[in-house]
Amino acid sequence: MNNYIKANDIYLGRSEELMKQIAPDSIALSFWSPPYFVGKEYEQNETYNSWQEMLKTVIQLHAQVLKPGGFMVINIADILAFKDDNMPRIQGMNISNHKSPVTKDMVLKAKEKHPHYNRDQLATYLGCSEQTIDRRLNGNNIRGGKHQTQTRVKLVGGSLESYAYECGLYLYDKRIWKKDPAWANSRWTTNTLKAVSETEDLYIFWKAGEYVVNRSRLSEQEWKDWGYRQIWDIQSVRKNDDHEAKFPEELARRVIKLLSDPHDTVLDPFMGSGTTAIAAYKENRQYIGIEKEEKYVLLAKRNLKYAQIQTSLFDTLKIENPHTAMPLSAAAFQS
Ligand SMILES: C[S@@+](CC[C@H](N)C(=O)[O-])C[C@H]1O[C@@H](n2cnc3c(N)ncnc32)[C@H](O)[C@@H]1O
Repeated sequence: MNNYIKANDIYLGRSEELMKQIAPDSIALSFWSPPYFVGKEYEQNETYNSWQEMLKTVIQLHAQVLKPGGFMVINIADILAFKDDNMPRIQGMNISNHKSPVTKDMVLKAKEKHPHYNRDQLATYLGCSEQTIDRRLNGNNIRGGKHQTQTRVKLVGGSLESYAYECGLYLYDKRIWKKDPAWANSRWTTNTLKAVSETEDLYIFWKAGEYVVNRSRLSEQEWKDWGYRQIWDIQSVRKNDDHEAKFPEELARRVIKLLSDPHDTVLDPFMGSGTTAIAAYKENRQYIGIEKEEKYVLLAKRNLKYAQIQTSLFDTLKIENPHTAMPLSAAAFQS
C-alpha cells in the first residue's frame, strides 16, 4: 500500500515537502499562482534567493507528478518595484505640481452617499484620479510612503522557464491576463513616468507526452472569445478581505476547461482561498490543494463547501422547477 495523498482534499504544509507525496504521473493539470515577492504577509520570511529556490523546487517536483502530456500553468507578474541599491537615487524631476482639491472629507461623504461605489466610480464622481482617492482614504502619501526610489523592473518569467527546462518541462504557450489597474501594487508615483500594473502572465509548460486536443471542450463562442486568444480580459477579485491575493474563478475555469478533461486531477500547490479547487469541482474535475497557512486551508475548505452546497441546491431547484431556478443568496447557506 502506498501513502500517496488522495485527490479531493486540501492539505496543510509546504509544497516543497508535500508534493513528494503525490503519486507520480498522476496530475493532468497544475494551475497556481505563487507569492510574487512583493511583500505580502505570507511571504514575509522570503529573501529573493529563498523565493527563487522555492519556485525552483516546486517546478522540479512537477516533472515527477505531472502525467506525460500534462500541463503546468503558472500565473505570476513581473516585479515592478524591485529594489536595487546600485541605481542612482534621483531619477525623475517633477516639474508639474498638480494638487487635487479633493479632501478626505469629500471622499468620505461621497462614500457615505454611494456606499457601493468602487475607487474608480468614486474618482469619476469626484472628478479626480484613483490615486487621489487611494491617498485620501488610505493615507498613502506617495512621495513619503509607497513610492520607493532605486527600484527597477525585474522580469520573472525567464527564471521559471530555465527551472522548467532543466527538468524537462517545455514552455508551450503564454497568455496574458488583463485585469483592473492595480494602483496599490504598482508603487505608482507622480515622480515617475511608469504605468500601473494591469496585466499578469500565464506561463503554460508541457511535460513531454501526447496531450489531448478536444475541440468540444469549449463551445464555439468560447473558442472565439478566449480559447484562441492570447489576452484574457477578466476583472480582478474585488473583495480581498479574507485573502490578499486571490485570482478570479473565471481565470481558473478557463485554464481548467482548455487544458484538462472531466475527472482529471487538477493540482494547486499554492491553494490560498481555494479558487482552483472550486473551479475544478464545478467543471467536474478532481482537485488537490496544498497551502502552508492553516487559516487559508480552513478558508479554502469553507469556500469549497459553500460552492458545493450552492451547486447542489441550485441543481435540485432546476430539477424541481426549471422555470423559476435562480441563484440563491449566500445567506441561505450560512450555518
Ligand atoms: C498568490 S496566493 C494564491 C491565491 C489563490 N490562487 C487564490 O485564488 O486564493 C499564494 C498562496 O500560497 C501560499 N504559499 C506560499 N508559499 C507556499 C509554499 N511554499 N507551500 C504552500 N503554500 C505556500 C500563501 O500562503 C498564499 O496563500
